[in-house]
Amino acid sequence: MLAVEARGLTKDYDIKKDGQRAHLRAVDNLDLAINKSEIYSLLGPNGAGKTTTTRLLTSILQPSVGGAKILGYDIVEDASTVRSNVGLLTETPALYERLTVRQNLEFIARLYDIPKEDIKPRVEELVDLFDLSDKIDLPSGSLSKGMRQKVAIARAMIHDPPVIFLDEPTASLAPESAKIVREQIMKLSKLEARTFFICTHNLFEAERLSSRVGIINHGKLIAEGSPEQLRDLRKDETMTVFRFSVWDDVIQNFFQERHYEVLEIKPERKSISIFINDIEKETPTIIEELIKQNFPMFEVRHEYPTLERIYLDLVQSENLPRNQEEESS
Ligand SMILES: Nc1ncnc2c1ncn2[C@@H]1O[C@H](COP(=O)(O)OP(=O)(O)O)[C@@H](O)[C@H]1O
Ligand SMILES: [Mg+2]
Repeated sequence: MLAVEARGLTKDYDIKKDGQRAHLRAVDNLDLAINKSEIYSLLGPNGAGKTTTTRLLTSILQPSVGGAKILGYDIVEDASTVRSNVGLLTETPALYERLTVRQNLEFIARLYDIPKEDIKPRVEELVDLFDLSDKIDLPSGSLSKGMRQKVAIARAMIHDPPVIFLDEPTASLAPESAKIVREQIMKLSKLEARTFFICTHNLFEAERLSSRVGIINHGKLIAEGSPEQLRDLRKDETMTVFRFSVWDDVIQNFFQERHYEVLEIKPERKSISIFINDIEKETPTIIEELIKQNFPMFEVRHEYPTLERIYLDLVQSENLPRNQEEESS
């Protein structure tokens, strides 16, 4: 059974445009299949539809069209079962600042109807898991932002939910705090067989934390896969750079005679960049021949397109038609 399964999930908001009632399609025909214990990141720019997707999947909002299941439970028909099976860290979580960490967690535990005798051990277990034991009796308002965010994540897990949604868990944090929170998420995902669904606009976060990334833009999923698979989308943009200790124009001939496409020559760097079809097979042959012919080659490297480049290309090429429409209207 899948942890998260969405079929044609769609959400329209009613909005007013030029004084007229209109629809805004925030989530557009989304299909998702996320296995148990996966850490899945939904990556996309602001306004892409990440938060709306999270609200749909946690039964806070109802879809306009399509549907989804969490661990087999329908987000509309079994909404209350869905809610007890999910934990949610919202985009801007607020703690009761004057209450201590313990009091914040106990308060939420009571809201979830956790049996009275289980509350104390559960809170202490969580505080331990989040390395917050020395902060447990401090007012949460006195903690750093990173620590407060950890308390907020612990709070989202108070009822021991198997599927946890984290909406922009580090977006409002300084780099040091973001690092603490990311390390905590990695620790949680290793320790416990839980499914994480993380919304982020931060590519490096998605890459570091998750086994699979879905890229969303204008409510649509435009690419999905492991970071490696996403990189493979642009395998054909890898270039191979050879560097020599002495530059000679015959180097260029060497590659051209062998029908390699020359992408760049930098005589001042004594380097040439070419495109190789089958990198694994052809690179050793080229190296062998260069050495046999006494070319003073001392460096070979493959420059794979970065995930950042692929992400920006995907999102920006998607944005083009819309921007042009807006300009012309
Ligand atoms: N309650 C709402 N009413 C109307 N439009 C909304 C509402 N919430 C979000 N939107 C719009 O829906 C789109 C997706 O928003 P959101 O899901 O918050 O994206 P993200 O979390 O990726 O930034 C945006 O265009 C946003 O302005
Ligand atoms: Mg959002």
